[in-house]
Amino acid sequence: MRLKIVLFLIAFVSRSSLAIGFFKPFNVSYDGRALLLDGQRRILISAGIHYPRAAPEMWPDLVAKTKENGVDVVQSYVFWNGHEPVRGQYNFEGQFDIVKFVKLVGLSGLYLHLRIGPYVCAEWNFGGFPVWLRDIPGIKFRTDNGPFKVEMERFVKKIIGLMKQEMLFSWQGGPIILLQIENEYGNIEDSYGKGGKEYVKWAARMALGQDAGVPWVMCRQNDAPENVIDTCNAYYCDGYKPNSKEKPIFWTEDWDGWYASWGGRLPHRPVRDLAFAVARFFERGGSFQNYYMFFGGTNFGRTSGGPFYTTSYDYDAPIDEYGLLRQPRWGHLKNLHEALRLCEPALVSVDVPDYVLLGIKQEAHVYREPVDNKITDSGFLGNGSVCSAFLANMDERHSVSVKFLGQTFHLPPWSVSILPDCKNVAFNTAKVQSQTSLKLLDRLSSRFSTMTNFSFKSTVSWISESWQAFHEPIGVWSPENFTMHGVLEHLNITKDSSDYLWYITRIYISDEDILHWKVTGVRPSLTIDRVRDVVRVFVNGNLAGNATGHWAPVNLHIDLKQGENELAIVSQTMGLQNYGAFLEKDGAGLRGQINLKGLKGGVQNLLNSPWTYQVGLKGEFLKIYDLESQGSVNWSSTLPPDTSTASFTWYKATFSAPDGADPVAIDLGSMGKGQAWVNGKSIGRYWTIVAPKHGCPSHCDYRGAYNERKCLWNCGRPTQRWYHVPRSWLQESSNLLVLFEEIGGNPLGISIMRHATDTICATTSESDYPPLHMWQHPDIVSGDISITEVGPELDIFCDYGQIISSIEFASYGNPQGSCQQFSEGNCHASKSFSVVSEACRGKNRCTISVSNEKFGEDPCPGVVKTLAVEAKCMSASDVNIAYM
Ligand code: GAL
Repeated sequence: MRLKIVLFLIAFVSRSSLAIGFFKPFNVSYDGRALLLDGQRRILISAGIHYPRAAPEMWPDLVAKTKENGVDVVQSYVFWNGHEPVRGQYNFEGQFDIVKFVKLVGLSGLYLHLRIGPYVCAEWNFGGFPVWLRDIPGIKFRTDNGPFKVEMERFVKKIIGLMKQEMLFSWQGGPIILLQIENEYGNIEDSYGKGGKEYVKWAARMALGQDAGVPWVMCRQNDAPENVIDTCNAYYCDGYKPNSKEKPIFWTEDWDGWYASWGGRLPHRPVRDLAFAVARFFERGGSFQNYYMFFGGTNFGRTSGGPFYTTSYDYDAPIDEYGLLRQPRWGHLKNLHEALRLCEPALVSVDVPDYVLLGIKQEAHVYREPVDNKITDSGFLGNGSVCSAFLANMDERHSVSVKFLGQTFHLPPWSVSILPDCKNVAFNTAKVQSQTSLKLLDRLSSRFSTMTNFSFKSTVSWISESWQAFHEPIGVWSPENFTMHGVLEHLNITKDSSDYLWYITRIYISDEDILHWKVTGVRPSLTIDRVRDVVRVFVNGNLAGNATGHWAPVNLHIDLKQGENELAIVSQTMGLQNYGAFLEKDGAGLRGQINLKGLKGGVQNLLNSPWTYQVGLKGEFLKIYDLESQGSVNWSSTLPPDTSTASFTWYKATFSAPDGADPVAIDLGSMGKGQAWVNGKSIGRYWTIVAPKHGCPSHCDYRGAYNERKCLWNCGRPTQRWYHVPRSWLQESSNLLVLFEEIGGNPLGISIMRHATDTICATTSESDYPPLHMWQHPDIVSGDISITEVGPELDIFCDYGQIISSIEFASYGNPQGSCQQFSEGNCHASKSFSVVSEACRGKNRCTISVSNEKFGEDPCPGVVKTLAVEAKCMSASDVNIAYM
């Protein structure tokens, strides 16, 4: 089914395809309860996907997987520095083809929330600001400053104009239903005093003045002016109150995971807690909720913000960095969304729900209309009456049984039960009924460290003859260098055209200095007050040391010879600051005093010495990573004798793509730090810096409030070892991989691998809820809802293009253990394996009723039975090969 949608989307979306609208034109407004689409209140689930964090060829599949999850809206920021890299020169191509992205969303029947910013934060380089913005005379960002306001308004106008021209607003039949101006300005507003307050009013007025025809939000902005909705961004937003009763409760960023920093551990938010937070939000009157992120993706090139954010922006999202479903996360949320959808008629018909105290830490919220409707055995009295309820247990430790409308309900700790008809539970946030999927790369990561005994199929590894190397010159390499007295700020020179800037000066060492060192035993040292983000110091072409940090001090012993010495310091950015006030003043490079210590004459201040400046790397500016520019330098077929210490070295080799259509990753675990390109496209910065050994719990308890320090994993391993190469960037063979290695690493250890679902597991028991599709969907007008009497089912599926190739375990009875460690208990139906095999083998998906009838016997009367299954997935093409 999804293939059809995807093919349809690919075939129909071109920049000029919009002769007709995606929807019948509709207007969008809001009241104190919800967004109104064509006058009808809606409960909306939204999914954050940032278009430039995926190759455009991935967009149709991402949108299809999002839609399939029961989401209504896609949310994205607009990335100013991607769209206007040079002032007045716009880029709406490739990964920045925002029009194509919005059209894809519309074609799939989803709505769009466009967060224009144009400050976006987002762990994106410079928070989305183009670096040229710093050079506008008199500019101060994000405050009541004329030059800034002119630029901001110009860009907002440009985007709104483009969207109107392409007919993408709802009233034109397009998908855009909501906009955003600024981003979390409330967090830093106080730093700007009166200017901040004025700026908020101006930004709102300016936005509303664009006549975009759909509502605007400002997130984390409790002084948002009238007609702009202030919204919540947090891990939990139940209980959030906007600054006026006329405004609905919106959650623009539900942080379902978190980002990673180089050298840090990886975040993980348990899905049971995430589902709890979402259910609580809708329970307590929320009406729009967005997952930040639903698909996080990749910071290709030098787009990652920082400093020090990783190339992967996976975010532990329901769709992983490579575009595969993360299970059971994706499935559990799908079930939640289905349950919420069943409640929508009741939710939208009530302004304020009834509150029922069920226990000390237990409560219910009931949405019913008309209020005097009564529940009887046969449903509700009165036609068109609706009733949906949420039963919450906020106790972090204990399950409880509560009485609600005459029935007893069992509530696990830290959970919400959703009752679309006020009688039957459709879903409980702590009961995960969807399958777990284990993917090839997961098997190598610490999360599944028990399973490393595994060989990859179609993995490409390297033979040494295929590699070539080129040594990047240390210091000056082009006539475009210049010399000045004094130390200049890094970004003022590079304009961010490269991460790297060389600062080069000469130091004269006299005979007396040498004698002084011999007599006193003193070693000369170089000190710099503060540097960011990374500096490496070379003396006479040899690496003397380095420093890393956010305005970190440098103090290094250096070896100097008699006479002239060349001191070459390369300063490097690792993603420009994306958060905080006064970003225009932030800068990079060397700050404060720069001193040479230990000379005969005492301290030599280098601050006012003549310094030569050289922007960037030779290889970078000659684009030696491009297929066409291979001849521009002399590549050597002899690798350095010890690659592990060979700094500032370029490597290249070619490879064939792994067979099939699975996503592709490059394992750079054997390398040090640098940047990588495939077929001329940058796959980002890489660094094998290792996360601390401690601080990862052995067990992640979903119960209790989450924050980004809870449930960390990947301790003692490189923060990022695998790097995504979109399939669409690859050809069958002769793909060119080029690396720039800063500190040394072994290119022979690099491998190319496929990423695909390999093993799936699920358990369902007789006492579980019936599948959600058994609920008949409510009629939005009459609100009628009903459920067919069926038992629970176990449902498993492989990725698109795969089939279930074998059943590894199946037991209907009381199986023990969990995925990959299942074992039979003392109750086991003898036909378990054959029933499951017959239903599933060779298929992409199968559904099995969890009942005695299905398994032909009751293996242990009086006991609640469970079906546990573990199966292997294989790509359909591999299976054909295997059988040939
Ligand atoms: C929010 C911000 C987002 C993103 C997020 C963390 O405060 O609005 O853009 O930076 O934090 O991932």
